[in-house]
Parts: sequence; structure tokens; C-alpha cells
Amino acid sequence: MLRALVRRGVREFGHEFVGIQNGFEGLVQPDLTMPLTLSSVRDILNKGGTILGTSNRANPFAYAVREGDHYVERDLHAVAIDRMKALQLDGLVAIGGDGTLQIAHRFTQHGVRVVGCPKTIDNDLSGTDQTFGFDTAVQVISEAIDRLHSTAEAHQRVMVVEIMGRNAGFLTLEGGLAGGADVILIPEVPYQVDKVVASIDALRRSGKKFAIIAISEGAYPVGGEQAVLAQAGEIPGRGVVRLGGSGKVLADLLAPKVEAEIRVTVLGHLQRGGAPCPSDRVLATLYGAMVLDLVERNQWDHMVCMREGKLKFAALGESRKERVVDLSGDKVRLARSIGISFGD
Ligand code: F6P
Repeated sequence: MLRALVRRGVREFGHEFVGIQNGFEGLVQPDLTMPLTLSSVRDILNKGGTILGTSNRANPFAYAVREGDHYVERDLHAVAIDRMKALQLDGLVAIGGDGTLQIAHRFTQHGVRVVGCPKTIDNDLSGTDQTFGFDTAVQVISEAIDRLHSTAEAHQRVMVVEIMGRNAGFLTLEGGLAGGADVILIPEVPYQVDKVVASIDALRRSGKKFAIIAISEGAYPVGGEQAVLAQAGEIPGRGVVRLGGSGKVLADLLAPKVEAEIRVTVLGHLQRGGAPCPSDRVLATLYGAMVLDLVERNQWDHMVCMREGKLKFAALGESRKERVVDLSGDKVRLARSIGISFGD
């Protein structure tokens, strides 16, 4: 994304770019900027992550500041605005998921000229059908499930694979479909343990002695709740819960009711690592170049997006709503039609 942004910006418009390091932290803390030039963005197309660094706990409007032995949240957005003025920025390009883009939108309400670019593996932004990072993560999940098949089949086990995505099941749905999971459990459908057991039993009766269950980190049983590793605010500056452990919860619920041995694999940050796949490289390149159309049109407070296969623009405020899997959509309907259980 940065490569395309800088290449077009320099070549076509003669812009200069300053990279803000570690996300919004770089606007609050000193000495966290770097020049972004044609040479600094060379050869990064095939790299995962970002050369700028990032943070998901550095919201200038609620910034965690250490006071003695504890942290307090301070509104430091004025510090960030002063920093942008000192850097003589004409505009800010915010790249990230809902947290980043919500903060970006708030800055526009304080007169800052911001445009956005949607990037998250979760694909859960309502302003766009596609965020870059998602396809690469689906590829990792699909490969992981392929590999789990070996042990599942040889040992005749139930393999539970826990997948990221927060409150949205897109990664689990697509990764599960691509990997051939037998059961797909997503946050949008609280699961019934007995239905999952029935699916495993039905597989056995049909001659398949193993099962692969893809479960979102945000999935939970009917009557239960999401498995949380850290509550919002427990990690200083982090305003959202840290999910994790849904696979273990499911395995414990299944264990007394299933004959086969159960194993849990948590894919974790492997899903966010490695070289981006071709479609993510293409999307990031298109988004990076196109964000400058917004700048040229003075259309601040907007982001680039993909809707129904077309590159478009959306108001930044739209990214505030979380997008979740459409349960009446084709992917869920057709997955069900080939016998995949959603635990309901
Ligand atoms: O939002 C992207 C995401 O990867 C989620 O899928 C996941 O819940 C979260 O980030 C993990 O965050 P962290 O890297 O802080 O553990």
C-alpha cells in the first residue's frame, strides 16, 4: 500500500511523504517519524506487516499514560494535532481497521484532513466488502487445515482449529470452506454442543472417522459467552477485549460426549504473518494509489473501498459499524447445502 501511495504521489503529484511510526503513537510520542521516499518503499511489495510499525493501543483520544504504578487514560489528541502541524502535514493517510479508522474520523471532526485505507485480516469493516490482509490469512488457515487433516485422519481424531476475526466469522467461514472443515462455528451463530456432537457422530456413521472443526475466537455456545484473554482496558490503552480460548472451551464441552480424542490448534498470529498473497498485493496497490484521488478531490473524511467488485469511496464514519457474516447469504446457505454444520 505504502509503495503505491508513495510512487504515485511522488511521480504524479510531486508530494512528499512522512511515515508516522507505530500507528497513532507516532503522533503522540516524539521521534517516531521517518521519511517515506521512493527508495524506502522499494522492494516491500512481498513483505507482510508494515515498515512503519503499528499499535492497537495508542488512541490519542484515550492514551494510556503511566502515573506511578498504574496507567490513566488521557485525551492527547491536541498533542497529535500539534505534531501534525509541526510536521507541516497537508493531510494524513490512516491505514488500518475499525479502531484506526474511527480515530481517523474523530480527527476530521477536529479539522484534521484525513483519508483512510481499510486494512485488517478480519474483513469486518462495514464500509467495504474487502480489506487487504484477509485473503492472505485465509490462505494460511486453509493450508493449516490441510496439514491438520494428516493427524486427524491417521489418529482418527477430532481436530479443533481456532481462528482469529474478533466478532466476525469471515476468516473462519472462508478458511473453513477452503480447508474442507466439517463444522464451522462463528460468532454470528451461537453453537449447540449437541448439534456439533451429532455432526461428528453422523460423520462416523458415514465412514469418516475424523472431524475438522473450524471455530472463531469469538464463537461461543448457546447460553455461554465469548472466551476472553484480557478485558478491554486491562492492557493499557487497549479499548477492546482480547479474545482467545474458544477452541479449548469447545473441546472441554465435547470431551465427555465424543469417543474420539480431541486436539486443539490455535493458529494465532501465524494468520497475520508472512508474504501477502497476490490478491492482497493487488488490492493494497490499488488502494494505495487510489487514496490519492481522495486527496486530489479534497474529499477528506473518506476512505477507499471495494463494493460489489468495484473500487469506490466510502465515508470514514461508515467504518464504525462492525460488519458480520450475512447468515442468509450464499456462502452460508451453500455451505449448509453440502453438509457443513454451523452448530445450530
Ligand atoms: O483485528 C485483527 C486481529 O488479528 C484480530 O483478529 C485478533 O483478535 C486481534 O487482532 C489480535 O490482536 P493482538 O495482536 O493484539 O493479540
